[in-house]
Amino acid sequence: MPDQDHSPLSEAAVERMVAEALAAIAAASTVAELKAARLAHAGDRSPLALANRTIGALPPEEKKAAGQRMGAARARVNEALAARDAEVAAAELAASLVAERVDVTLPVAAAPEGAIHPITALIDLMSDVFVAMGWEVAEGPELEAEWLNFDALNIHADHPARGTTDTLFVDPLEHHQLLRTHTSPVQVRTMLHREPPIYVVCPGKVYRADEFDATHVPVFHQIEGLAVDKGITMAHLKGTLDHLARAMFGDITTRLRPNYFPFTEPSAEMDLQCFVCHGESVGNPDLDCKTCRNEGWIEWGGCGIVNPRVLAAAGIDTDVYSGFAFGMGIERTLMFRNNAADMRDMVEGDVRFSRSLKGEAR
Ligand code: DAH
Repeated sequence: MPDQDHSPLSEAAVERMVAEALAAIAAASTVAELKAARLAHAGDRSPLALANRTIGALPPEEKKAAGQRMGAARARVNEALAARDAEVAAAELAASLVAERVDVTLPVAAAPEGAIHPITALIDLMSDVFVAMGWEVAEGPELEAEWLNFDALNIHADHPARGTTDTLFVDPLEHHQLLRTHTSPVQVRTMLHREPPIYVVCPGKVYRADEFDATHVPVFHQIEGLAVDKGITMAHLKGTLDHLARAMFGDITTRLRPNYFPFTEPSAEMDLQCFVCHGESVGNPDLDCKTCRNEGWIEWGGCGIVNPRVLAAAGIDTDVYSGFAFGMGIERTLMFRNNAADMRDMVEGDVRFSRSLKGEAR
């Protein structure tokens, strides 16, 4: 058969097609290239497939040999494809494992850390001093009834603190609601809800129509203490406050200075000996102590024996029970404890301020 060599089914032609297919398969180095090679050399329109279709036109005696040749040729191509497929997939996996490798031991840029606000930390610390002595922590609302903030505490209607220049009343005025000016109403709330013995501290926010400067802010924090039991005396008050003062400031001298509060009788101011000059500046013309203004003492908070009128207003039998109470500013305590000179730092919310006192106030 003279034209047999030019037939697409000749041994030479098939061998050529197989050789081209194997070369393309071997040259494919990615999954995508191999896919293209498969399409070109083993797909429906590949030379081998097209040649295969011509078998039907052969004389019957040639069909078998041609069929076997084509079958063997396509099997070789398919085997080569399968083998290369496995190699290429393995190589791509190995390459991506290298490319996507993460060194988990490398240092990372940590997200900036926040900090507990020093006022929050100090409230926790002061409350803990009392919890350790078996006291409870009580809280009350910042929007308070005028009666609880003033009347029940024996603060008369004509007391100057009840004016709109000092106190923030809330509309409508006939509802007699205000932003509490101190934490003392929580004393009354506690006594109204609980039977003695009562030992509670009440930390929280208070509001006054004040300036905003280094030593005044219109919103600040106080901690109130109240003990009601049988036989409570001024000695229990002094011992308790001394314990708190030592927990806050270490070895420090305190004094009670007579004062007046409508809700306590007798009343006193708890003073701390000046921790800067330790009293040395008193009467000493060579020393000028800015912290105590040469008085030797600094005022920390008010206190006293609960006025029986306050106990009675809250329904407590004054023949059986007596009590002591105290209240002091948290910001002021932070100023003394951490040398924080400007109260505005405490409300501005700059995390650097909180961080600078981190651990200190805890
Ligand atoms: N409520 C007072 C104030 O805001 C502080 C105070 C004084 C509280 C004497 C007390 C107390 O419980 O007994 O200035």
